[in-house]
Amino acid sequence: MGSGSAGRKIVAVVGASGAQGGGLVRAILADQSEEFGVRAITRDLESPKAQDLVRAGAEVVQADLDDFDSVRKAFDGAYAVFCVTFFWAHYSPEKEFVQASSMARAAKESGVEHAIWSTLEDTRQWVPPTDSRMPTLMGKYKVPHFDAKGEANKFFQDRGVPTTFLLTSFYWDNLIHFGLGPKRGPDGRLALTFPMGDRKLPGIAAEDIGRCAYGIFKKGASLRGRTVGIAGQHLTGAQMATALSETLGREFVFESVSPEEYRRMDVPGAEELANMFQFKHDFQEVFCGARDVAFSRELNPSLQTFATWLARNKDCIPIG
Ligand SMILES: NC(=O)c1ccc[n+]([C@@H]2O[C@H](COP(=O)([O-])OP(=O)(O)OC[C@H]3O[C@@H](n4cnc5c(N)ncnc54)[C@H](OP(=O)(O)O)[C@@H]3O)[C@@H](O)[C@H]2O)c1
Repeated sequence: MGSGSAGRKIVAVVGASGAQGGGLVRAILADQSEEFGVRAITRDLESPKAQDLVRAGAEVVQADLDDFDSVRKAFDGAYAVFCVTFFWAHYSPEKEFVQASSMARAAKESGVEHAIWSTLEDTRQWVPPTDSRMPTLMGKYKVPHFDAKGEANKFFQDRGVPTTFLLTSFYWDNLIHFGLGPKRGPDGRLALTFPMGDRKLPGIAAEDIGRCAYGIFKKGASLRGRTVGIAGQHLTGAQMATALSETLGREFVFESVSPEEYRRMDVPGAEELANMFQFKHDFQEVFCGARDVAFSRELNPSLQTFATWLARNKDCIPIG
């Protein structure tokens, strides 16, 4: 089961034109061993990104996570599948939940030998909805884009899909693409602002997530049924500001605010992100402890540090 026409083990990749899936596609295509082949999944075969995947040498197929039959067909005959959902495209944890269920069912019915589910902690295990430390959002969540993913682990477990549960980390790319980059404060200084105090934030270059996922597929059997947390480095905000100063050659400072202040800030999804940072702050040992940098490097020997990632991306950091 699952070998392509060239005898390769086919990995079907959801989100192949995006950050996580894209990194995995590129990792598979760059591997000269030819053990694995890639099947990139897109909603639109004609899009420029899909065409880029074709030109890069990937098999590209159409599927939409909202259409179970298309996902089932896209997974058919694959040895492995990479499953991810897209909270920030719709802000709906319920949608993520349903889509994860579809992927787990399609993986089971297709008989795949290995699935990776890109998940996060269900923070309600530590901060139940009745806990007043942080507001409950959307009726029953603390950190909606975490909680629904964590709760959806059960679909893969209950169906007996041979799954590795991949706990990802904060993309450093958020400093470029997500509006979380440094901003000039009233005093004119460039400040990185998170409600993290002196606690460490596990971070990763988005591209490295897919590379680590590929390392998981290569390790195979030993990681089925396991949870693997990945990060490139665990850094305090002050350490990140120092690295920014050193690489960009101008002064950056870290400004820690309270979660309450962060909730009122002009950043996308401020309430949700304030709860997320508060969870990472209050449960640093749990959160950092679940993300092993050394093991991430074992999975992906080219794992970037923040300094390496910054050196490569310094021209893209907004310094408004
Ligand atoms: N930002 C962070 O720091 C961070 C950290 C950890 C986890 N995450 C999680 O990462 C997830 C997003 O992953 P990502 O960053 O890789 O996403 P992304 O870069 O935004 O990629 C999204 C891609 O997925 C495809 N897609 C969107 N909706 C789809 C659907 N209904 N069916 C099939 N494909 C669909 C789109 O491709 P086509 O247009 O080609 O179909 C799109 O290119 C989020 O759920 C987020 O919570 C983010």
